[in-house]
Amino acid sequence: MKKWSVNSWRNYEAKHLPEYPDVKKLEKTEDQLRSYPPLVFAGEARDLKRNLAKVSEGKAFLLQGGDCAESFDDFNADYIRDTFKVLLQMSVTLTAAGNCPVVKVGRMAGQFAKPRSAPKEEIDGVELDSYKGDIINDMDFTEDARVPDPDRMIKAYTQSAATLNLLRAFAKGGFSDLNKVHQWNMGFVDESPQGKKFRELANKISDTLSFMEAIGISSRNTKRLRSVDFFTSHEALLLPYEECLTRLDSTSGEVYDTSAHMVWIGDRTRQPDGAHVEFCRGIKNPIGIKCGPSLDPEELKKLLDILNPENEAGKITLICRFGSETINEKLPKLIQPFLNSDHNLVWSCDPMHGNTMKANSGFKTRPFESVLKEVETFFDIHHQMGTYPGGVHLEMTGQNVTECIGGAQAIKDEDLSARYHTHCDPRLNANQALELAFLISDKLRESQEPHNSKITIAK
Ligand code: PEP
Ligand code: CO
Repeated sequence: MKKWSVNSWRNYEAKHLPEYPDVKKLEKTEDQLRSYPPLVFAGEARDLKRNLAKVSEGKAFLLQGGDCAESFDDFNADYIRDTFKVLLQMSVTLTAAGNCPVVKVGRMAGQFAKPRSAPKEEIDGVELDSYKGDIINDMDFTEDARVPDPDRMIKAYTQSAATLNLLRAFAKGGFSDLNKVHQWNMGFVDESPQGKKFRELANKISDTLSFMEAIGISSRNTKRLRSVDFFTSHEALLLPYEECLTRLDSTSGEVYDTSAHMVWIGDRTRQPDGAHVEFCRGIKNPIGIKCGPSLDPEELKKLLDILNPENEAGKITLICRFGSETINEKLPKLIQPFLNSDHNLVWSCDPMHGNTMKANSGFKTRPFESVLKEVETFFDIHHQMGTYPGGVHLEMTGQNVTECIGGAQAIKDEDLSARYHTHCDPRLNANQALELAFLISDKLRESQEPHNSKITIAK
């Protein structure tokens, strides 16, 4: 294999990268970004990798979620807090269900760049370049707005830094107190039309907390109960940006992309001989690979050889996104070659990207029922094959948006226009996300039951 360097990706074909008309400005911006401090510390990325290694062994569960695309407009403390809060609530639910630690990773603090299915967008006979995420161009439907502007990388960096700062404060500063998170969940259970179904699990947590309090373990004297570890992630799409934030870690002598703890390679840019794979093979961060219907097992093996030649545990998360109709056919074929192999893999399920449809109203949406069905099928397939369903990857928000139809709130096609705010794909709203966590808790419990631990876990 050729020698890797931080910019060796430039010698490979790069799909979905913007062409900046002002190259001088681009280079100046890149120099500026290179001089900026890292956003995350390499040691934290190593921590995440250790946590993900536990997932690959079947001893923890991965919860990854957040916006499809973060935006410059929706940037304020409440917005960040609300997404973080729902992730915490889901995580407590899943921890109680599976009796295992939940590794929490936000699609936050850097999830700005979007690959688009079409390079152009047409409205009323006017055709313009597609919107590619706030780090590249503007969503307004004007010619000027769609021109890629390097300054946006600086703005994205600054917003990511401020977001991370607040997330760190929330994670460690008392906001994440388990008692409080549980109280929020009790509120949800009380109000949810499905509340009865969820109460048993919620009561189990109440009992556990009361028991711990009785023997003197509380958030007042136990840090673990009032703080959490929280990690960030985004798609490593905009390679000039990722390159500039990639640094040599002086403690380990290893290279890390310090724009996030974990980055993933999108379904559209995972060509083994493409620029995105080339870039990712040189960084030590945990890497996600989106696995869609067009990925064949041989190609996946090739990708693993390139991206994780030493078979490091926790390095690779396979984020499967087939669609509720296609998963039955595709996922077993992808798992099969790894049965009885010694590959260390985290299998995660993204039930969003294969279930997108156009509603009669014209809005892009996702039926909650299809999302749920894909996750349930994901669990079932892994149970049948004796492998471990290690996580979920969701597009979701803490806001009460109306973007995905269905769920207990029974959002209908005609409701979509009320609060349809996404900058790209439709997200689960706060209630839908939490409902999903409660609904999959039975499946998670099954995957943690003792009889399953006897099955050899395909690593
Ligand atoms: C995404 O996660 O927002 C995305 C574009 O996914 P995929 O690469 O799986 O289509
Ligand atoms: Co998306």
